[in-house]
Amino acid sequence: MSLMRKKSVQDMLVFAQTSTALRRELSAFDLTMLGIGAIIGTGIFVLTGTGATVAGPGLVLSFIIGALACGFAALCYAEFASMLPVSGSTYTYAYATLGELIAWMIGWDLMLEYLLASSAVSVGWSGYFQSLLGGFGIYLPDMLTAAAGAVPGKSTFFNLPAFAIAMVITALLAFGIKESKRVNNIVVLIKVAVVLLFIAIGVWHVEPVNWSPALPFGFSGVFHGAAIVFFSFLGFDAVTCAAEEVKDPAKDIPKGVIWSLAICSLLYVIVAAIMTGIVPYAQFAGIDHPVSLALQVAKLNWFAGFVDLGAILGMMTVILVMTYGQTRILLAMSRDGLLPKIFSEINPRYGTPYKATWLIGTMIALIAGFVPLHTLAELVNIGTLAAFSLIAIAVIVLRQREPDLPRKFVCPAVPYVPALAVIFCVFLMTQLSAMTWLCFAIWLALGLIVYFGYSRHHSLLHKA
Ligand code: ALA
Repeated sequence: MSLMRKKSVQDMLVFAQTSTALRRELSAFDLTMLGIGAIIGTGIFVLTGTGATVAGPGLVLSFIIGALACGFAALCYAEFASMLPVSGSTYTYAYATLGELIAWMIGWDLMLEYLLASSAVSVGWSGYFQSLLGGFGIYLPDMLTAAAGAVPGKSTFFNLPAFAIAMVITALLAFGIKESKRVNNIVVLIKVAVVLLFIAIGVWHVEPVNWSPALPFGFSGVFHGAAIVFFSFLGFDAVTCAAEEVKDPAKDIPKGVIWSLAICSLLYVIVAAIMTGIVPYAQFAGIDHPVSLALQVAKLNWFAGFVDLGAILGMMTVILVMTYGQTRILLAMSRDGLLPKIFSEINPRYGTPYKATWLIGTMIALIAGFVPLHTLAELVNIGTLAAFSLIAIAVIVLRQREPDLPRKFVCPAVPYVPALAVIFCVFLMTQLSAMTWLCFAIWLALGLIVYFGYSRHHSLLHKA
């Protein structure tokens, strides 16, 4: 039964109210910016091209399906965050409801999301950055442009720009959330401006004939597209990782989660409609700059360069928030004894988990340097969809077990909304490849080995 041991919700609340290790500096506005900072990135700037190739103009529907799956999950997240405003996101929520083993597995699972997404987006960033350098006639030696085997017919070895950007972001995070917040807010404004300008200018270049046939690959294309572009919504959940650094977490976190997701979903659906309206969908095949391609087709080359710059800056905040989220989840797991102490040591000078940030950041950077993008991206979605499903189930469980706990935000229509979250997420998981499922199974098996080899005996609940 010790596998099912749970942390007391009351203890967690007392801890959250008395914990002063991290600085409380974030407001609802900052959280919304943090969310948008994590959401708009490689998904919209790179993966929309692949999405359009498999879904055609039906990409708009793919985005709506992705938004619904995330929207239902976000309502569940918001209820939990308003109830348990503590670090660690889904991992912590599960520890209070579904027991230690499942909580551990979720925490382990979230590493696929945060750590690998940080690496994946660093690789996406590198592509845009190199194309910008190319504009100035600057080229890196082939060996240093990508991971081995990433580009057919080219002898590549290490993705230096991806490694470098991940290390720069790590340094920002290690030296303190205040500085990082300021950088994040400025960059988010720039990338939202770029997307809004794309919409405002692009809409005049839409040729409605490009929207027909609307579903060239039927609904199976739409669903496949949804499983790909799901990546573009990830990040709203990272807002919950900041719980202990928020001024009024119970009120502000639900706002941050819901606002950031709602704003980005609306922008994505409009961008998808405009992109597929400007460019015949077949032209997106093999293109990794789909947004700027649309502008080039519309003969707006001057603006295409501007979008490239916005994408480069925009992807940096995604790496920032994802890396940040990863360190905070590990912090929570370490504080519970499931991981070594180094992950929860807070540096008194910077008020951050300094050593852990450098350790994790270096791992992210090395993975970004050595592993190709497609290998990384495949795993991110499956890990996240699994975590979203579990959190939705946990909301239903906690309504039964702790009906009287104050909830400043109440997820509507329980159990139907959480049930819809599970149905949408599991459905999208079924659209992913068998290889992805295999890797996911191996990762979970590794997690079990670490749990039974280390965490179970070091857990504070075990000692208690
Ligand atoms: N949603 C994030 C992106 O699109 C992960 O880059």
